[in-house]
Amino acid sequence: MSRLPVAIVSAMHEELRALLPLLHDRQSVRLARRDFHQGTIHGQPVVLVLSGIGKVATTTTAVLLMHEFSVRQLVFTGVAGGLRRGVKVGDVVVAQQLLQHDMDASPLFPRFEIPLTGRSHFDVDAALAEALGAAAQRCVDRADALIGSAHLGDFGIGAALVHRGLIVSGDRFVASAAHSAKLRAALPDALAVEMEGAAVAQACADFGRPFAVLRTISDRADDGAHVDFTRFIAEIASIYTRAIVEDWLQRGAPS
Ligand code: ADE
Repeated sequence: MSRLPVAIVSAMHEELRALLPLLHDRQSVRLARRDFHQGTIHGQPVVLVLSGIGKVATTTTAVLLMHEFSVRQLVFTGVAGGLRRGVKVGDVVVAQQLLQHDMDASPLFPRFEIPLTGRSHFDVDAALAEALGAAAQRCVDRADALIGSAHLGDFGIGAALVHRGLIVSGDRFVASAAHSAKLRAALPDALAVEMEGAAVAQACADFGRPFAVLRTISDRADDGAHVDFTRFIAEIASIYTRAIVEDWLQRGAPS
C-alpha cells in the first residue's frame, strides 16, 4: 500500500513558491479556492498548500488536508513576531505548545481556554517537532552558506538561534510595542506570535493527527513589525523553510 502523504502548509505565497520546485510528479487539485499540490520530495509523498492567513483560513485548509487528502501529519511553516526577550529576527522557533491568545470567553470560561474543551494549550507531536528542530539547527548552522553573511547583515541578523516552546496565535498582526507588551504580560512563556499555528493545533487535536509548527522570526511584534516584512519572507524565511523541509524529508523523517 502506498504511504499517506505529509502536508506542508504555508501562509504566504513566497514560501510556497520556494517549496514548489522541490516537488516531483506534481498533480494539483483545486478545492475550496485552494490549490493542493501533490507529489514527492526526496521520495516522500507530500501535499503542499497555501493556507491563507488567519485561523479560519487555516482551519479550513487543515480539515481538507486530513479529510480529503488523508495526510498523516501536518507541518505549518512561516514567520512569526518574536515576543520573549532573546527571540530575535532571524531566529527559528519550533513550537512545543500552541495557544489562541485572542480566545476569551471569560467569565464563562477562563481566559484563553477553548470553550467546552477544558484546555488552552495544545501539544505538538514531540518526535516530529524534535526532527524539525534538529533540521532547523543544521540549517541555522550553515546560514552563511545558505543566505550569505552580507545579506543576513542587511537584515541585522547575526548568529541565529533555534528556540523551542510556546507559540501563540490570533487574528491580529501584532505591530505595536504596547500590544506585544500586553501579550508578554499575559503570557510570559510565549516565545512568538503568529496568526495560524494554534488553529492547526486545535483541528489536528480533533482529528488525532500529529502536527508541528515551525516559524522564522521576521520581526519583534512592535511598531517596526511591518517594515521589510515581505522582503524578509522572500529573501530569508523562505530560504530557511525550504532548507529545513528538504533536510527533514531527505532524512526520511516521516514515520
Ligand atoms: N507573523 C509575523 N509577524 C507577526 C506579528 N508581528 N504578528 C502576528 N503575526 C505575525
